[in-house]
Parts: sequence; C-alpha cells; structure tokens
Amino acid sequence: MADKEGYVAGFPSEIIKEGKVQVLVPKLEAYGVVPSDYAPSKAPVFYNPVMEFNRDLTVLAFKAFQHMVNHEISICEPFTSQGIRGIRFAVEVDGVTKVLLSDINTAAYELAKHNVELNKLEDKITLKHKDANCVLSNNASPKKRFDIIDIDPFGTPVPYLDSAFRALRNNGLLATTATDLAPLCGVHAKACVRKYGGKPLRTEYCHELAVRLLAGCMASLAAKHDIGIRILFSHSSDHYIRVYAQIEYGAKKGDESLKNTGYILHCFNCLHRETAHQIFGKSDQCPECDSKMEHAGPLWIGGISDPSFIEHVMKENQNTAFKNSAKITKLLTLTKNEATAPATYYVIDKLSGKLKLPAPSVQAFLTALHNSGFQAVQTHFNTRGIKTDAPALMMHKLLRDIVAPQH
Ligand SMILES: C[S@@+](CC[C@H](N)C(=O)[O-])C[C@H]1O[C@@H](n2cnc3c(N)ncnc32)[C@H](O)[C@@H]1O
Ligand SMILES: [Zn+2]
Repeated sequence: MADKEGYVAGFPSEIIKEGKVQVLVPKLEAYGVVPSDYAPSKAPVFYNPVMEFNRDLTVLAFKAFQHMVNHEISICEPFTSQGIRGIRFAVEVDGVTKVLLSDINTAAYELAKHNVELNKLEDKITLKHKDANCVLSNNASPKKRFDIIDIDPFGTPVPYLDSAFRALRNNGLLATTATDLAPLCGVHAKACVRKYGGKPLRTEYCHELAVRLLAGCMASLAAKHDIGIRILFSHSSDHYIRVYAQIEYGAKKGDESLKNTGYILHCFNCLHRETAHQIFGKSDQCPECDSKMEHAGPLWIGGISDPSFIEHVMKENQNTAFKNSAKITKLLTLTKNEATAPATYYVIDKLSGKLKLPAPSVQAFLTALHNSGFQAVQTHFNTRGIKTDAPALMMHKLLRDIVAPQH
C-alpha cells in the first residue's frame, strides 16, 4: 500500500472521522477483519470501529462528570492504541487542560504520536511509550494525579486498578472496560476467582453478575488504599462490560463502600435468587422450593447505576449529534429505569423453558406483573429480561396464567 496515509503509518491505513476528530487508523480490510471482531487483529495497531459507540458514550459521561464537578480536569488513558479515545477527550470534553496517553506497543505509540500532531494537540496531550502501571505510578504523587482515568485494556483491567486508584485525585472518576467475559460469566470460574476475588455463576443474568464482580473487585481494591467508591454508571454491551466509579478518599468511605459487597444466591431448580451480605452460617436451602442454592461472590450488591448521573449523561446526549445518539438514548433510558430495581433479572425464555411452556412477549409479562402489584422493568442486559420484586414461584404462576390460562 503506497498511498500517503499508508506511507505515514508504515502499514495499510486510512484517515477516519469520529466525533470531532480525524485520525489515521489501520485499514482493517487489508487484514481481513470483520467489523464485529474485538479480538486483537493482525493489524499492527489495535483499532475497532464498533467501539465508536463506547467512545461516544464515554465522551458524554466524561462531559457530564466535568459539568458535575465544575472545574478544570485532567485525564489519563494509558491503553490508547492509535490515540482516538484520548484525542476525542482532549477535543470534545469541556474543561480538559491536560491529557496523558500511553501505549506499550511501539507501532501504536508512533501512530498515536502522528494522530496527536494531526489534530494539533501537542500542547494538551502528553504521550508516553510505557506500560500502563508504570505511567500511573509515575503520576501517583498528589500534585500529578488525574481527575479521570480510563482503563481500556485487552481482557481484564484488574492488574491496573491498584495503580489507577493511587493516581486518582479525591472525587476522581475511574472508568474501566473488561472484555474477559468467559471468566466473568462463569465459563472459566477459576480465572474469575483468581482475578476478581469473587465466584461467578452461569446463570441467565451472568452479564449483570459480571458487572457486579468487577465493581466488587474495584471496591475491595480501593478500600486497601482507604478509598471508597460510588458506582455512577455501568453497562454491558456487545462483548464487554464497563463500570464508571467515582472515588472518595477516607478509611470510612472505604468501609462504607464495602458494605455494598456480598453474595447473590441462586436456585437452579425454581430460579429464585436473593442477595446476602454474608453467606457463612446462612442456610443454602431455597425458601421457595427447598432445593440447595448456589452462590456468586463476593461481588457488588449495591446500585450499579445512579439515575441522577444518567440524567446528566442524557442531557449531554441531547445536546450532541453522534452517529450512535439513538442507540445511546435507548441504553440510557433502560439503565435509568432499572437503576432502582432489584438485583438480577428473569429471562422469559429461560423461565418458560423450565416450565415447558411457550414464551410470552415481554410486554405481556410486564403487564401481568404490574397488574399483580409488582415492580417490573425491562433491562438493558437482555432484550427478553425483566427485573422485578416478584418471587420466583409467582413468576411461574404468572407465566402459566399468561400462556395457559385454562390450567
Ligand atoms: C483495547 S486496546 C485500546 C483501544 C483504544 N483505547 C481505543 O479506544 O481504540 C488495548 C491497547 O493496550 C495496549 N497495551 C496492552 N498492554 C499494555 C500495557 N501493559 N501497558 C500499556 N499499553 C498496553 C495494546 O498495545 C493496545 O493498543
Ligand atoms: Zn428454588
């Protein structure tokens, strides 16, 4: 490939526009990458166009956060790849005075350098060619710390969380992605216990458990540094989960956030589930059907999104025209509605499969629940999922009433 852009990067590449910036990225067709691929491709530098949604949403969340704290902010993105995410923060988030980017990969560092210059951001962005933990540790002294750190690695973010907490200012925001859903969703349970310090469970709501395992792990790592966390927003999309947590310095804050950790007990026979702060000495007998329950955790059992923060993000979304604006509105609406609903959700098809009955529509089930006086909302985790305070055996009864009223 000998066009100008390809020559600059030293490999097949093209200029793309995203948000308010233009960056040079690997030309994915030259590497046989299909758009939905997330795994590191054969391209010398990682670039995933599908993650534009994640980057758009992050820009909006950071804008909302900056407006909330209402002062100038600094941001660190130590897994920057071609630089697109950090360059967008520098250009699109208000009040940003300083952005520090880094990537350990030489080709990524070179490409990010080119892109910082292409956008004339040399004054605002500092670029490093270093390991993320090293960059974060070098900025852990009080005067160097950041207001926002975005951890966007391959797989698990856990090995970088300790240094991230040390490099965050009081009341700062830690946003982190995890793509290792096989451990988090219980396919590789041992890896999850090893990395996140909590046991996963292969249930229909394993994506929510994944968010809760990551959030719980964040709380326990933060507590070691006498830091508490407040989960402002989290979601599961495509092949990854994402958690946004605001931190607060103080041993008491650490103690308080640990009060939001515990366990989720699940009955694989009747699908009953419950949260518990402690399981030692507690009966594992299902209160609905007497079967033995399994547990997931320790994990975060508190709220996994703050409705008022989501409202701020919604406002930012209304004032911005992104390619993904409609998709973002949908996600924000669902996450806001479910923010105050109980932990876990029922997937209608799982329930109907269990009872060997046809599956009704989500709307029919929601109506039946509302008519019976229960809280019931849809969840962003699963298009066929319902969060409700109805007990499992009530869910069985309502399903039978809807699909087979004669029985
Ligand atoms: C998922 S990509 C980042 C994508 C980018 N943030 C975006 O929005 O397009 C992960 C990047 O982390 C880099 N990386 C992997 N391990 C690293 C480490 N220990 N320190 C710094 N960078 C690392 C990889 O070279 C890769 O470019
Ligand atoms: Zn049961």
